[in-house]
Amino acid sequence: MMTVPEFQKRKRERKKIIVVTAYDALFTRIVEEAGIDVILVGDSLGVVVQGKKDTLSVTMEDMLYHTRLVAGAAQRALVIADMPFLSYQVNVDEAVRNAGRFLQVGAAVVKLEGGAAVTDRVEAMTRFGIPVMGHLGMTPQSVHRYGGYKVQGKERDRAETLMADAKALESAGAFAIVLEAIPTNLAKAITEALTIPTVGIGAGPHCDGQVLVLYDLLGLFDEFVPKFVKPYAHLKADALQALRRYKEEVEHGKFPTDSESYH
Ligand code: KIV
Repeated sequence: MMTVPEFQKRKRERKKIIVVTAYDALFTRIVEEAGIDVILVGDSLGVVVQGKKDTLSVTMEDMLYHTRLVAGAAQRALVIADMPFLSYQVNVDEAVRNAGRFLQVGAAVVKLEGGAAVTDRVEAMTRFGIPVMGHLGMTPQSVHRYGGYKVQGKERDRAETLMADAKALESAGAFAIVLEAIPTNLAKAITEALTIPTVGIGAGPHCDGQVLVLYDLLGLFDEFVPKFVKPYAHLKADALQALRRYKEEVEHGKFPTDSESYH
């Protein structure tokens, strides 16, 4: 069973932390069967499941539904629930209440985006026993502020702010931080400066762990493929081939045959 202390121990033992997203029970079981023991129910589901262009319209209800599916199926994995846009920004009370709702449906941890602006939320949640994962760099809920999905931290000022944000999150009690789309050297410097683990996505090889969106990793989602994605399978191509064969066989009377029929 993966736990928060176990997760943190991996940094001290220099064992890589492997994280993928999942949004339903079927893929949760497959992910666990593959030996991956940290699952993020990411608000990326707004894009890869709901077909939206960004994550901003994802609601608490959407996230609670998918977290319930994943947590209900997970046997060993640490389930991290992503807090959607507007569920933690308004004030500390609302943020704590919403974070607690994720624990009530089975998540062990919540993740939220931002640095200094959210440290009071992180502090309050941690004080009340809710472990929090931070998320810095190209934070998708701020896509309009960045003017698109762009690498963050290339300029010295921004790199310094990201380093300060990472330290502030650690001081506020965050148990780990996702670093998304930042230069390799900056991710390395942040990872070395912190005692808590970093989990990279588009942040190079020096983070304590890596995370990928499951449908990107499996080659199911190809509408937008960032440079940092490596498809380890081509399931969209396989699905297309299977569906076209099925259609053709029904059209030509080749399916169902005797062996797929009852007598
Ligand atoms: O929503 C998500 O899936 C994420 C990961 C990409 C880190 O935040």
